[in-house]
Amino acid sequence: MRKKRLNKKKVFFRLAVAAVLVIIIGGTLFYLWPEIPVRMQALNDFADPEPVEETDDPAAVEPGDDAAAEPEEIDDPFEDQEETGEPEKEPDKEEEEKEEGEEEIVTTPEEEAARPDQDQKIISDGDYLLALVTKQTTLKPGYQPAELKAVPSYMNPSYQMYLRAEALEHLEKLWNAAKEDGVILSIRSAYRSYETQKQLFKDYASRHGEEEANRFSARPGQSEHQLGTAVDFGGTEADFTARFGETEQGRWLADNAYKYGFAMSYPQGKEHITGYIYEPWHYRYIGVNHARQWKETGLTLKEYLENQPQEFE
Ligand code: DAL
Ligand code: ZN
Repeated sequence: MRKKRLNKKKVFFRLAVAAVLVIIIGGTLFYLWPEIPVRMQALNDFADPEPVEETDDPAAVEPGDDAAAEPEEIDDPFEDQEETGEPEKEPDKEEEEKEEGEEEIVTTPEEEAARPDQDQKIISDGDYLLALVTKQTTLKPGYQPAELKAVPSYMNPSYQMYLRAEALEHLEKLWNAAKEDGVILSIRSAYRSYETQKQLFKDYASRHGEEEANRFSARPGQSEHQLGTAVDFGGTEADFTARFGETEQGRWLADNAYKYGFAMSYPQGKEHITGYIYEPWHYRYIGVNHARQWKETGLTLKEYLENQPQEFE
């Protein structure tokens, strides 16, 4: 009898300890819940870009890559188009121009390459859905979109990604509409911080040269991905190539994405306007009404946004 009572006491004690633990852990999780996406993103920034297997295969696409960095891509029909890249000083030339006695800031050529050109206009509010982000208009390094939410796993993200809540809500509608039409999309890139973009551009510049990198990758502060509203779609063997535009996924997006508020930022044959090669996988959310209006105008997204109110510092 006595033994039995003791056991009951023990069981009760253990239950009480378990209940206290559940309350403490549950309470902490509840308290931290809204912070989790942001903290995960910070971790992801360190992990992105993921380790890249060095390869000479021109068709190789890197995880988290936003770049049709293939020679095939860069040498394609648009190579005859006029390039609009602003003249950029080579790092060593800039070095020579330094006056004697001037305090020397030591940067590697890659770091130098990742620096946006001078005379930038600084975008006042990145949360503005129509903010113009270009090679001449730059987001602040510290700009981070509010309300980042995780891209759900059913959308086949290549790794854990985040988007602004409103963009994600519409992306879900888009994804499901595509599925109903028998088209399965994957998400290959979404929100990228200033630091992640800086690292990406640096890597591309060191591997392809700054001039080429500048045609397919934004410098830090100049990527629509920093807005948390841009998405790179994939899910085909032609991901991150011009051929993506010919896949059923690419065609479906070109025909339908605007109905869900998404505009293709870098269309074919417009490098002289947008500053970037054809990226049939890169779409940016601007709201359903504006996307419909944009589609009707036939303008590039850059031109359309230039006609919208913009604020710079
Ligand atoms: N590939 C686009 C231009 C970006 O890096 O944001
Ligand atoms: Zn992109």
